[in-house]
Amino acid sequence: AQTTETMTAILAQNSGLEGPLLPILHSVQAEFGFIPGDVVQIIADHLNITRAEVHGVITFYHDFRDAPAGKHVVKICRAEACQSVGANALSERAFEKLGVEWHGTTANGNVTLEPVYCLGLCACGPAAMVDGKVVGRVDHAKLDKILAEAGA
Ligand code: FES
Repeated sequence: AQTTETMTAILAQNSGLEGPLLPILHSVQAEFGFIPGDVVQIIADHLNITRAEVHGVITFYHDFRDAPAGKHVVKICRAEACQSVGANALSERAFEKLGVEWHGTTANGNVTLEPVYCLGLCACGPAAMVDGKVVGRVDHAKLDKILAEAGA
């Protein structure tokens, strides 16, 4: 019931906008921390579009998640400058250590791994973001330390 009330408020707030889907999704994620499945249907009905269309937008924009995040969110930069200095190998290592892929959360609920596309730290790549804080020159040792501290 609370979801319905919150959604009614969010939809009302965004009703005058021309391209309401993105603002609605941002509000939903701000409110719930992710985009719950039942909310996708509510939004689709409201905007007269299909569930698949809403889902497409959620997957296209990397900021949205469809499940609650873990206690800590670790983002690894996948943009070009970081890739050229080893971001791919770093991501692979994170997959292996955490046992998850992009957008996955460790079984103990402590760490969610997400990709990010440039953190403005290109000169000190590979770059990462840990709970909103940017970290540069993340080598494998630094990554291991970050993950250990996050309780992975
Ligand atoms: Fe990674 Fe810019 S490319 S911070």
